[in-house]
Amino acid sequence: MDVAPAAIAIGGPAVAVAGGLSFLFLKTYLSHQHANPNHLLTIPEVPGVPLFGNLLQLKEKKPYKTFTKWAETYGPIYSIKTGATSMVVVSSNHLAKEALVTRFDSISTRKLPNTLRILSADKTMVALSDYDDHHKTLKRNVLTSVLGPAARKKHRVHRDTMAENLSNRLHALARKSPHEAINLRDIFQSQLFSLALKQAIGKDFESIYVTDLGITMTCNEVFQVLVIDPMMGAIDFDWRDFFPYLKWIPNTSFEKKIEQIVTRKDAVMKALIQEHTKRIHSGESLNSYIDYLLSEAQPLTEKQLLMSLWELIIETADTTMVTTEWAMYELSKNPKQQDRLYDEIQNVCGSKKITEEKLCQMPYLSAVFHETLRKHSPISVIPLRYVDENTEIGGYHVPAGSEVAINIYGCNMEKEIWENPEEWNPERFLAENDPIDLQRTMAFGGGKRVCVGAMQAMLIACMGIGRMVQEFEWRLNEDLGEDVNTVRLTTQKLNPLLAVIKPRG
Ligand code: HEM
Repeated sequence: MDVAPAAIAIGGPAVAVAGGLSFLFLKTYLSHQHANPNHLLTIPEVPGVPLFGNLLQLKEKKPYKTFTKWAETYGPIYSIKTGATSMVVVSSNHLAKEALVTRFDSISTRKLPNTLRILSADKTMVALSDYDDHHKTLKRNVLTSVLGPAARKKHRVHRDTMAENLSNRLHALARKSPHEAINLRDIFQSQLFSLALKQAIGKDFESIYVTDLGITMTCNEVFQVLVIDPMMGAIDFDWRDFFPYLKWIPNTSFEKKIEQIVTRKDAVMKALIQEHTKRIHSGESLNSYIDYLLSEAQPLTEKQLLMSLWELIIETADTTMVTTEWAMYELSKNPKQQDRLYDEIQNVCGSKKITEEKLCQMPYLSAVFHETLRKHSPISVIPLRYVDENTEIGGYHVPAGSEVAINIYGCNMEKEIWENPEEWNPERFLAENDPIDLQRTMAFGGGKRVCVGAMQAMLIACMGIGRMVQEFEWRLNEDLGEDVNTVRLTTQKLNPLLAVIKPRG
C-alpha cells in the first residue's frame, strides 16, 4: 500500500480527532521553538498540509528519491512532518557523519516503524536494537564467531567453495545454451544462501521438515520464507506509525500479513535450530554460529537464539547479492570498464584464479565495488534514529523527540562531492590510495553503528565479480534502457539482470 492511499484511507477517523489535536501540535511546535537555547539556526521545513504533514507527498514506499529531490530545494538538512512526528532528513556526507559520529550520544536510539518492530521481535537484533548492553553482547557474539578478522579466516573455506560453485554453474550454463541469457540472481543467490546457512548452522540442505507447519520445504522455499518474504514485508507499513495517538484503532489486515510472515519464519528457524541442537548434542561440532552460541557464548533465551541466527542469515544473503548484481549489470552495460577490469585481473593473476590475497593488488576491482555501492547503495536510508535530547547538526537546532533519517542515497548523489553523480564511473575512485577503505561512501553507515559485515560483503562481492569477469565476457541480453528501479527493503534491482556470457580464452 502506498503512503498516499494509506493516508487517504485513514482520513475518516483521523479528521474526527483533528480539531482537538491541532491545539496539541501548536503546543509541541511552540515548545520546540523555545527549546532552542543556543540560538541555533532553525531547520528549513518542507511545506505540507495540516494533520498529514508531508505524508501525501511521499508516494513511494521507499522515499529516498523524494528526499533527495527535496534536498535540492531545501538544502542538505531539512525537516518534514510524517503525520504527528517531525523527521529531520540529512542528505550530505558531511552532516551525516556529524549525526552518526559527533552527535551519536544524543541520536543513538532506534525509532522502529511497527513493521520492523514486529520483524525484529522488539529490537532483538544487532542492527535494529538500541545502543545498550544487549546490543553489545549480541554484536560481540557475531564478531567473535563469524564477522571479526579471526572468525572470517575460519569461514574462508565457505567463501572459496562459493566462488568455485558459482564458476562451475556459470560454465555449465554457458556450455549448455551458449546464446541464452542467464539470470545471475538465481545462481548467485542460491550460492550465497548456502554460504549463509553454513556460517549460521554449519551446513546447507536440500529440504527440511518444518514441524510447526507440518510440511517439508525445499531450500528455495526456505530462502523465500527467511529472506524474501521479510524483505518484502518490511516495506509495508502501519499507518498508525504516523498517528501514534490512534494506535487503539485496529489495523487487522496489516497485523495479519506481518504476523504470517513472522510465524512462518519462526517455524522454519525452530526446525533448523532443533536439527542442529540434536547434531551438537550428538557430539558433531562444526565451525558455525549456532555451535558457538550453544557452547561458548553467554546463554541466550530461545527468542534471542532464533533472532541471532536469523539475523546472520538474512544479512549475509541479501545486501551482498544486491550489490553484486548491480555491479555485474553495470559491467555488462559498460564494456570499456569491463575490459579495464579484465586487464587488471590478467596483469595481477595471469593464468591463475583470483584469490582473496590478490584483492588488495586490484584497485580497479575495488573501485568497481565502491562505485556500485555509491550509485546503488543497498540500504538507501538508515533505519530511523530518535533524538533523545536537544542537539544540533550543521549548526541547526534538532529538538528532542524528532526522528532522524540519514538518506544514504542522497549523500552518495551529492553534487558537491561527486562529479556527475548519476554516472557509474569507477575511475572516480582510482585517485585514492587505500583499495580497502570501506568508508569511501556512506553505504556502510558510520560511527559506532557502522556495518560489521562490510569486510565480509567486500570479500564475497569482489571475489564473485572478479571470478565472473576473469572467466566470462558479459553483455546485457537486450538493452532495457535505464532499468534501475528497485524493490524490497534493500534496493534490489526490480528486474533480474539477464546477461549473455561467453567463456574467455
Ligand atoms: C554491501 C553490503 C552491505 C551494506 C551496504 C550494509 C550496510 C549497512 C549499514 C548502512 C549499516 C548501518 C546502519 C546504522 O547506522 O544504523 C549496517 C549495519 C549492520 N550491518 Fe551491514 N551492510 C552490508 C552487509 C552486511 C553483511 C554481509 C552483514 C552480516 C553478515 C551485515 C551486518 C550488519 C550488522 C550486524 C549491522 C549493525 C551494526 C550495529 O548496529 O552496530 N551487513 N550495514
